[in-house]
Amino acid sequence: MPQTGEVTPDNEEPDVLLRPMEPGDLAHLLRWLLDPEVARWFPGPVGVPLGMDHVEAEFGPRLDPGSPIRMSVVEANGRSVGFVQEYRVRDHPGGGAQQPPPDAVALDYGIGEPAWRGRGIGSRMIEVWIAQAARRYRDAPAYFAAADHRNLASRRVLLRAGFAEGLWFDQPRPDGTTATLVGHLRRPEMVG
Ligand SMILES: CC(C)(COP(=O)(O)OP(=O)(O)OC[C@H]1O[C@@H](n2cnc3c(N)ncnc32)[C@H](O)[C@@H]1OP(=O)(O)O)[C@@H](O)C(=O)NCCC(=O)NCCS
Repeated sequence: MPQTGEVTPDNEEPDVLLRPMEPGDLAHLLRWLLDPEVARWFPGPVGVPLGMDHVEAEFGPRLDPGSPIRMSVVEANGRSVGFVQEYRVRDHPGGGAQQPPPDAVALDYGIGEPAWRGRGIGSRMIEVWIAQAARRYRDAPAYFAAADHRNLASRRVLLRAGFAEGLWFDQPRPDGTTATLVGHLRRPEMVG
């Protein structure tokens, strides 16, 4: 039996929602970014351990309402389990050879609580994000996400959500190595 207040991943289809990230969530974000499976794809600073000072400096400004990068917390059954960040491609160019349109909206994401991965939450998270993005960015011509070619779970959730695989491209990493990413594009849902 769970302890009072504890929420465990014990039902078949967890309720998944996205809510704006708040300053009090940054400690969760630090824990998620330190999780080895997240850190594998989101490498932190080189030569120093990732700490709260770095997270506050990098992500704190993204919580301001005027920030071009928007941060959300993924909740599953009321428990904060991960993050999504989104931005117009023109504000944070990337995508290498894929070159998504500047007005497209790009997203990055991670389920940072290991017990909640591999339970369908990532797939649901992308669906929920698409529905929100359709209302928030009515003029966006496309959504874009790039996943490391070895990250099969990430590539799978994108395909399940209607993204199409695009070009593969190399991206330098902070430690001097190169990651080969796969661009994924999706047309927005039409909303009334
Ligand atoms: C990638 C991530 C968001 C996927 O979310 P998830 O909740 O774990 O995935 P789901 O349970 O929704 O599974 C989606 C699909 O991926 C498959 N999958 C899950 N984990 C997998 C793995 N390790 N290897 C291969 N396939 C995997 C599932 O079988 C499922 O496929 P199906 O639709 O054919 O059944 C999550 O695992 C995660 O955050 N990982 C660490 C951070 C990360 O990779 N971020 C993305 C960087 S681009």
